[in-house]
Amino acid sequence: MSSIIFLTTKKRIAYFVNTGKATTYCIANNKMKLTSRHITLFLLTGLLVLLSFARKEDPRYRFVIPKGWPKPTYDFKRNKVSEAGFELGRTLFNDPILSKDNSISCASCHLNFTAFTHADHNVSHGIYGLKGTRNSLALFNLAWNKTFMWDGRVTDLEGQPTNPITNRVEMDNSMDSVVAKLNRSGNYRKLFYTAFKDSVITPKTLLKSLAQFTVMLESFNSKYDSVIRSEPGVAFTENELKGYNLFKQHCASCHTEPLFTNNAFKNNGLLVDTALRDFGRMSITHQASDSLLFRVPSLRNIGVSGPYMHDGRFGRLKDVVEHYTSGTIKSPTLSHELENEIRLSTQDKKDLISFLNTLTDKYFLYDVRFRSTNPY
Ligand code: HEC
Ligand code: HEC
Repeated sequence: MSSIIFLTTKKRIAYFVNTGKATTYCIANNKMKLTSRHITLFLLTGLLVLLSFARKEDPRYRFVIPKGWPKPTYDFKRNKVSEAGFELGRTLFNDPILSKDNSISCASCHLNFTAFTHADHNVSHGIYGLKGTRNSLALFNLAWNKTFMWDGRVTDLEGQPTNPITNRVEMDNSMDSVVAKLNRSGNYRKLFYTAFKDSVITPKTLLKSLAQFTVMLESFNSKYDSVIRSEPGVAFTENELKGYNLFKQHCASCHTEPLFTNNAFKNNGLLVDTALRDFGRMSITHQASDSLLFRVPSLRNIGVSGPYMHDGRFGRLKDVVEHYTSGTIKSPTLSHELENEIRLSTQDKKDLISFLNTLTDKYFLYDVRFRSTNPY
């Protein structure tokens, strides 16, 4: 508990500041002039008090449900986010110790400034220079996901990291050996003790801390959000507004606001890649009706998270818009929303892209809480 006490007598003026950790005080004779030393001391101690109050109610580790958004699907009661758990999760997310040969971290494929996906190649690159078969997914607003991965084969954010950790071409490790490695580190044992009151690291506490980090990756401060919240001085340009209307007409049935996904599985008419032969959802459900269905990805931060689609086949948003206007392939599972051709003029296409670029959330991309190194 922090406190500040002022005492004044006829002769003296004194103040005592207790920050919970230390007490500082200053006593001045009121015949003395207040010197700049007194003023500096006073300001400094005041700052200390403010800081210690800020630590008590630290909003940095508080999950926010933006106004008007649905209830998250993630159960926070099962794994309460704490400062120590989140910070440990961030350290682990960025540490290649999770991979077999200490070469690949989660952040190798999920970089913060591209909305936690990779940018320079279509399918992910993992351990030993091996290639995966899919484009890395951007990571944000995961608390609202009903399923995870392009085909929805994972249903729980907490359990998700066992996939990359044990995947042969991603981190090629086993949960037992990663936990054994972490248990050999005195520093990690200390950090796990602070977060979970147990210095013996288990797969459960490893997964819990990673989830405390990934669930906090929230993005809701793009230009689009400011416009929707009617913040003063922010408005769509004429082109962005036209683009928004086109978006609502042609895209929003699947990329539904405010999350810009309806969390459903759909076939958006991509030609099957003959080398990868990825049939999406069908490989999980074994139903022919799920052939070529993929989870509808969110379009938030889409301007920075290319390449696009489950196999990263499109490098630019222009290519994506061309796909929807003239490239969708008819097949028995093509989503009915896309059966009729979407006709857009060259200007319409530009406007649509201008709107998509308003979904970039710089506050999220440059949020110091999510960076790899601790800035505090
Ligand atoms: C080698 C690259 C690579 C590494 C390393 C990697 N990922 Fe991923 N991540 C991917 C790819 C690719 C996907 C999509 C996989 C799919 O759909 O089959 C993905 C998907 C995810 C998803 C699902 C997101 C969603 O919206 O469904 C989460 C969460 C995630 N990764 C977290 C992590 C964490 C945590 C780690 C570290 C333990 C990690 N990833 C390591 C490439 C990687
Ligand atoms: C019928 C549902 C549906 C409609 C309508 C739809 N999409 Fe999609 N969209 C999807 C699905 C499903 C994917 C993922 C497909 C894949 O990777 O196999 C996707 C992927 C994308 C991606 C790539 C996202 C990423 O992270 O790689 C962009 C960009 C996109 N859509 C934009 C649009 C635009 C713009 C429109 C309107 C012109 C639109 N979509 C209409 C279902 C839809």
